[in-house]
Amino acid sequence: MSQRVAVLPGDGIGPEVTHAALRVLQTVRPDLVCEVGTVGGAALARGESALPDHVRTLCDASAAILFGAVGLPEYDGKPLAERPEYALFLLRRDYELFANIRPVRVFSGLEDASSLKAELVRGLDLVVVRELTGGIYFGQPKEQRIIDGVEAAVDTMIYHAPEVERIARVAFDLARARRKRLTSVDKQNILETSRLWRRVVDRIAPEYPDVQLDHLLVDNAAMQLVRRPGDFDVIVTENMFGDILSDEAAILTGSVGTLPSASIRADGFGLYEPVSGSAPDIAGKGIANPTAAILSAAMLLRMSLHDDEHAAQIERAVDAAYAHGARTSELVHPGMPSLSTQAFTEAVLAAL
Ligand code: IPM
Ligand code: MG
Repeated sequence: MSQRVAVLPGDGIGPEVTHAALRVLQTVRPDLVCEVGTVGGAALARGESALPDHVRTLCDASAAILFGAVGLPEYDGKPLAERPEYALFLLRRDYELFANIRPVRVFSGLEDASSLKAELVRGLDLVVVRELTGGIYFGQPKEQRIIDGVEAAVDTMIYHAPEVERIARVAFDLARARRKRLTSVDKQNILETSRLWRRVVDRIAPEYPDVQLDHLLVDNAAMQLVRRPGDFDVIVTENMFGDILSDEAAILTGSVGTLPSASIRADGFGLYEPVSGSAPDIAGKGIANPTAAILSAAMLLRMSLHDDEHAAQIERAVDAAYAHGARTSELVHPGMPSLSTQAFTEAVLAAL
């Protein structure tokens, strides 16, 4: 039976960059059955829910999900269940995609695009491993209410030891396959969940004597990421800290448009998406950088379809396109010539 991939382009620049990724994916793997589903604001606009049942059925029948982006300004202020982002929330929760892996790499030649000094980011290569299905995003109660006649709201941060254990193992395994350094980030001076987090990570560490583990408080980690980014190899942290730190780490590269991500569960099923989000301000202009989406397709091949060969082929083609000077508009000085989404994709296809 041929392998099936659910393609969910979503909103904003999602459709443009997903189209680019799909072209690359189908060039290296014409045998894959790629079926498109409508989610997020695009589904809400049709009077459907953010994650319609027919899209769930499509995902159930697939080996992996190639995801674009969700989120549109017209839904700001609506309750979560009526927002495009709810699609992502449900996919992560219902498919138990607990491990979010966000590699941050600076392409050589792009050091000057970073807002940090080029020598701080040259050769930067780190991975943020974010716990994705627990913590304050999902804990109950989670609601707005009136308490003693006053408007109030509550979110609940809760972790269970097994949730910390499984994400810690993903991070230790990854560090073991890389430069063998793991930084666990928490806020154990204040938060009980962080004290549990640190205790569990320390408990697992002896299984990985070859990996050097250290702990950082999240505020300090935010600072060290811009002060000495090159010292990090793998960072593991809980859901909300990971959301924030992964955006910070992403922009070290000069453009969030270059960063892919994987959200996976133990059996290898996963969702692959650009870190950049829907970027509604540039949607429809044909200028979005498709790198993150293309590299997400490579991660999909490697992690869900166990196809290292074609994953590496795509990654080499992207490297080659940058080495030959291919640049989308956010990576050049204002007024300098740049490539459209489509032209950049052609450059990658040509390098395959
Ligand atoms: C991310 C995004 C999402 C998150 C939003 C769109 C719900 O910021 O994947 O980092 O906060 O997890
Ligand atoms: Mg985020």
